[in-house]
Amino acid sequence: MDPLSRIGVAIDAALLTRFDQLIAKRRYPSRSEAFRDLIRDALIADGAQSAKTPVIGTLTLVYEHSVRRLSDKLTALQHEFHAIIVSALHVHLDHDNCLEVIVVRGKSGDVRRVADALISVKGVRHGQLTITGITSPSQHARGHSPKKH
Ligand code: NI
Repeated sequence: MDPLSRIGVAIDAALLTRFDQLIAKRRYPSRSEAFRDLIRDALIADGAQSAKTPVIGTLTLVYEHSVRRLSDKLTALQHEFHAIIVSALHVHLDHDNCLEVIVVRGKSGDVRRVADALISVKGVRHGQLTITGITSPSQHARGHSPKKH
């Protein structure tokens, strides 16, 4: 672990009170951990803005499987984008609705294009892409080393 740096932050009292309420609600053990998470989120969001940054994330879709040919269309699209789609989890939510969580990995721009293509299919009721991390090509290669498995 890198050595810790201590910083002082000037913040107005009302804003700090609201922040403390938020971190209590989210059950953070300390303000420091909450600040660190905010900074990590901001760095991921900023890095992901560049279309070439390698990222990993999840795409969540909710759709009605009874809509004509919708499941087929979504499956065909996932095959088309097999280089970006790592895995998919399908949950039969209730009689009519399905939930899919799709793990996506690739360049930020490609990941967004694939997400938009799936979310915009007619009959998809809800879709959300979450970029969880920025991956480096070397990490990617190590993660697939046969020695690790
Ligand atoms: Ni289903």
